[in-house]
Amino acid sequence: MTSRNKRLAVLISGRGSNLLAVLRACAGGALDAKVAVVLCNNRDAPGLAVAANAGIATQIIDHRQYARREDFDAALLAALAAHDPDAVLLAGFMRILTPVFVTPLTGRLLNIHPSLLPKYPGLNTHQRALAAGDREAGVTVHFVTTELDGGPPVLQARVPILAGDTVDTLSARVLAQEHAIYPLATRWLLQGRLRLTAAGAELDGQRLPAAGLPYVAGLE
Ligand code: GRF
Repeated sequence: MTSRNKRLAVLISGRGSNLLAVLRACAGGALDAKVAVVLCNNRDAPGLAVAANAGIATQIIDHRQYARREDFDAALLAALAAHDPDAVLLAGFMRILTPVFVTPLTGRLLNIHPSLLPKYPGLNTHQRALAAGDREAGVTVHFVTTELDGGPPVLQARVPILAGDTVDTLSARVLAQEHAIYPLATRWLLQGRLRLTAAGAELDGQRLPAAGLPYVAGLE
């Protein structure tokens, strides 16, 4: 198969701005791939319209219909299998996933987390960075493993925290970086340049730093 045929699945729960960034990268040629399906656990997610506007198939799988997390995860996995994705992107997907989902996809499953991991796994990252008086914040793309926000980082972008920042101003500054780094890390994965090994994440055969590669504009 050539890289032109690479297929992505994107899982969302909300706004879908990272989905849009990936779709734009596909449309503009920066990402030689197609989003085959968008899965969503929330039928009110604004991101569903982002997918529909791009003519992408969407499927809603409501976690509230499943008694156990594992059953929900099995339903997600079955929905993905029908689209045969080369890589699966979590893009604001607000459910904790179990090994039922993660294990079969390990090495092909990425997440984007709005903090400088390993700092601030979990929720409210910008609020926590502001409350701690941090001087900088950022975002990390990482491989997903069964540890929450704990899989090997791939790519990390930093932004300054400025005097007077609020969660809104800071998250907007971080989001601009998210939209640059997620399509890039995805491209590396689809090109086979990015790999998850027993020792951690590797790019072009080189072990990546523990916090991921520092992103700088122009990085290819
Ligand atoms: C982003 O901040 C992402 O880092 C986090 O959830 C948010 C999703 O935003 N995991 P969007 O739905 O992609 O706009």
